[in-house]
Amino acid sequence: MIASNGGEGKASVPSAPLKIVVFASGSGSNFQALAEAVREGRIHATIELVVCDKPSAYVLERARNFGVETYTFSPKQYPSREAYEEEIVAKLQAQGIDLIVMAGYMRLVTKVLVEPYYGRMINIHPALLPAFPGINGIGQALEYGAKLTGATVHFVDGGTDTGPIIAQQAVEVKDEDTLETLGSRIQQAEYELLPKVVGWIAEDRVTLNGRKVTINN
Ligand code: GAR
Repeated sequence: MIASNGGEGKASVPSAPLKIVVFASGSGSNFQALAEAVREGRIHATIELVVCDKPSAYVLERARNFGVETYTFSPKQYPSREAYEEEIVAKLQAQGIDLIVMAGYMRLVTKVLVEPYYGRMINIHPALLPAFPGINGIGQALEYGAKLTGATVHFVDGGTDTGPIIAQQAVEVKDEDTLETLGSRIQQAEYELLPKVVGWIAEDRVTLNGRKVTINN
């Protein structure tokens, strides 16, 4: 577990730190950005757990470097998505998790996960939703010829990147961009956007009303 002291001079933050789980499937650079923000006291939270569906994913090494517990599962060993999600939900409930952060978690989720955590589960996507949902959001924007793309953080509703949008950051597409150059600028945007949104949630500033999300001052 990695914990912060909640920063200084923030009289209005709730006293209990937000208990976070990060779901990831790959490199985990967004986990890293979030974990650094927590460690530096920029977010009043603790990262309790990393859930990962790929035993070889680099995010697991990053989690160990931060002393964060990991839970790895192999989807193929379960009869259905619901079956592994039931195990995950039991673990999250046992640990009193407040917020699920999906950061490069490349699996669709079912109502087993969505129902108990709707409004408490967010995802980061590398495009300006509703444009370019699903896999390869960066490549889709390039192929389409979009001039502007970026990153979106949204609540998870069980569809493919369809949940209410919390915040977005735009990134310009340059004529000479490749998947790598555009991808790297979008990731830089993600490293700012995701900790910022998690910080707002930790300060209890985010209100969800239908599809409308409001950030309170
Ligand atoms: C991130 O760019 C995230 O937006 C994307 O996967 C990457 C994970 O990178 N997620 C999706 O495409 C979900 N549809 P990371 O493992 O280095 O954080």
